Amino acid sequence: MRHLRSTPLRLTVVVILVFAGFLGTGLGTAYLLMHRTLSVEIDSRATQLIAELRAIPDADERLERASQIAASADPRTLLVRLSLNGVVVGNLPRTDLRDGVVRGHDVAPGKALSPSYLVRSADLSPGHITVLIGRENLEELNEIFLAILACSVLPALLLTSAIGLVAVRRTGARVGAIQTTLQALTQGDLSARTGAPHPDTDLGDISRDLDRMAEAQEAATQALRQIGSDIAHDLKTPIQRVSVRLERLADTDLPPAARAQLEGAQAETAQIIATFQSLLQITQLEGGQGRDSFGPIDLVALLQDMAEIYEPAVDEHGGTLSCDVHEAQPITGDRHLLSRLIANLVENALRHAPGSPIRLSLSGRVLSISDTGPGIPEARRHDVLRRLVRLDASRSTPGSGLGLAMVKAIADLHGAQLSLGNAGPGLIVAVAFPDPQITKS
Ligand SMILES: Nc1ncnc2c1ncn2[C@@H]1O[C@H](COP(=O)(O)OP(=O)(O)OP(=O)(O)O)[C@@H](O)[C@H]1O
Ligand SMILES: [Mg+2]
Repeated sequence: MRHLRSTPLRLTVVVILVFAGFLGTGLGTAYLLMHRTLSVEIDSRATQLIAELRAIPDADERLERASQIAASADPRTLLVRLSLNGVVVGNLPRTDLRDGVVRGHDVAPGKALSPSYLVRSADLSPGHITVLIGRENLEELNEIFLAILACSVLPALLLTSAIGLVAVRRTGARVGAIQTTLQALTQGDLSARTGAPHPDTDLGDISRDLDRMAEAQEAATQALRQIGSDIAHDLKTPIQRVSVRLERLADTDLPPAARAQLEGAQAETAQIIATFQSLLQITQLEGGQGRDSFGPIDLVALLQDMAEIYEPAVDEHGGTLSCDVHEAQPITGDRHLLSRLIANLVENALRHAPGSPIRLSLSGRVLSISDTGPGIPEARRHDVLRRLVRLDASRSTPGSGLGLAMVKAIADLHGAQLSLGNAGPGLIVAVAFPDPQITKS
């Protein structure tokens, strides 16, 4: 279906149709004109011969002339039969032919005759004449036109179609690369490119411009991220100093109201430090940091450990936590980062779907975590993976909107496919890890 919408394919079909149309009309007209001229000539030869014999008044002379004509005629071009006063002369064996066209082998089987003849007969009063004019020229004309069709028109059409299809395939591949790149860019993958070399064509120019645009976009986004992490980096140290000073202050004697204020300030600074740390760590993960420490991971054991760690918190929220494993397969990664990924997802379920049963499951290399809470609307599932994005419904809950951005960064570092879906009801987050063998090769 997609191919039918291809502009090059449509253009090729139009060109072939126009070409075939012109060729067909030209050849057809030439054939009809030549056919008509030859037919008229054959017809007039028959009419002239009949008129010549009719013009001879004497019966004997008429018979004499008819037998002369028959004797000197080539049977491939002319057959004559005149019957007059009980006498029959001529070189035509049959008597029962009607006006029209007959095949040569119907006239005299086994004889070398013209493939077909035009039959004309007339009453000469006295006498009856039948004249057959060979239509060899017309038969040859048909053969010539069939040969032109078979040797030049059909190959030309086939060649044009083949060239067109090659062009369609080539441009189709380029258009496909442009479409795929645009889709990937729209979905946030700024590293997508159409792929060099760019041919020296209009589509090649579009591909090159698209790649340049994507590069500029990636650089701008990278610069923005860098600014964010630079700010976090620069502010982290002074905030940590504030935190140390607050700690020292907490060790002194303070009136209860001042202590309450102090504890509030301590909680706020702890949150700011945690946010800065997360921002910096996400940037580091996006830069590929941590890949060096990858090793074989026992996801089953990791999942069970995490389930055990979170059991008390789940109990406290009045929910349940289950853990299913189906035919687990080996993966490689960083154990610490993967625990962080699972922890962030379990904490989200606890925080945004309180009291809901939480299901951890592992099937092959696909890890998924689901709850039965409010879920995330489809239109926002892409946004929540960005830094600092929180849904309106979660404004009253604590958090800074970095948990899922961290999950995405960890999944990307592991080459895993992250997807958010509807658990009907609730949210299901699936992380599909790649086969370590394929990743290695
Ligand atoms: N299990 C869930 N159910 C419903 N909404 C969710 C769930 N998990 C995440 N969300 C929504 O996605 C938003 C982003 O999640 P994310 O983990 O990035 O941030 P957070 O949990 O709000 O804060 P943080 O994780 O930084 O402490 C949340 O604010 C919430 O609106
Ligand atoms: Mg979170």
